[in-house]
Amino acid sequence: MNDPGSMRQTQRLTSDEAGLARAAEILRRGGLVAFPTETVYGLGADATDAQAVAGIYAAKERPSFNPLISHLDSFDAARTQGVFDETARRLAEAFWPGPLTLVLPVAPTCTISDLARAGLDSVGLRVPAHPLAHALLQTTGRPVAAPSANRSGRVSPTDADHVLGDLDGRIDAVLDGGSSQVGVESTIVACLSDTPRLLRPGGVPREAIEALIGMKLEAGAEGGKSPLAPGMLASHYAPRARVRLNAASVEADEAVLLFGRDAPKGADAARTALNLSKNGDLMEAAAHLFSYLRQLDASGAGTIAVSPIPETGLGEAINDRLRRAAAER
Ligand code: TXA
Ligand code: MG
Repeated sequence: MNDPGSMRQTQRLTSDEAGLARAAEILRRGGLVAFPTETVYGLGADATDAQAVAGIYAAKERPSFNPLISHLDSFDAARTQGVFDETARRLAEAFWPGPLTLVLPVAPTCTISDLARAGLDSVGLRVPAHPLAHALLQTTGRPVAAPSANRSGRVSPTDADHVLGDLDGRIDAVLDGGSSQVGVESTIVACLSDTPRLLRPGGVPREAIEALIGMKLEAGAEGGKSPLAPGMLASHYAPRARVRLNAASVEADEAVLLFGRDAPKGADAARTALNLSKNGDLMEAAAHLFSYLRQLDASGAGTIAVSPIPETGLGEAINDRLRRAAAER
């Protein structure tokens, strides 16, 4: 179920109790299920399971890791994942369930995986209003990470046929709930400091938010004037250590991030070593990427040397992230 490279049968599930039960079961086993929300169809995976989340990127053929929105069935469930300040609480009470996503500091009890957060100390949370989405989330009983259910670079799908047009044979199931109502994605507001920021305009109008909180929303990233394009976040996770890619050899005071069985020269003597995937499995590697980078960074090494990683499949997104980490500063 976790190998997106191989084609699989995509089930079209009906919006009755049997369909819902099946969809929840697939999600809980680490599979991929597209489901309707009031904005667009989402491609869902168990947000707490990094390997399942890696499957989203593989199915969509996304060339980079962006933080994903995790969907929950209630404000109470969301409260265990993110830290709500006064503004965030008021926004949640006014607009949830609905087409609003809040980006918040990670709560100590957060179970959402590093990969779903793209390694950040913040989480994107949304409680959708669509009755089927709500029922699915309730039955699944876990946060569900879900970007729009289209292949990278294509338009967001608003019905099950759109989803199948893009992803048939690449995901386990689509829960057919007819057409989405809003058709544009959720509005994303970050409440990470005293000034809430509009990261993406969407289903809830800016004016409605500003009227509720009694202040103007700042635009985009910190200091940035332009609206924030997905993937262009100022807050990309970057390790403190220098990152050296395609390492052929490793110094004793360096930490090393390995991939596959061919270790660079001197890796045995390195300060710390972690292997993204001994078997050279890119899904497994993606699932480990952010937590391993953090662990190696925490070892205090000045440099993290990284084994070569193939540019195929998920390797493209993994290398994109590593190149950014290497270029930072
Ligand atoms: O309407 C929607 O929001 C749809 C439906 C399926 O719910 N979902 C959706 O998800 O559009 P997605 O994954 O494509 O949106 C991800 C965007 C990122 O590009 C980023 O802008 C923002 O959400 N985001 C999520 N978590 C974030 C975080 N921790 N920090 C900053 N931005 C975050
Ligand atoms: Mg999208």
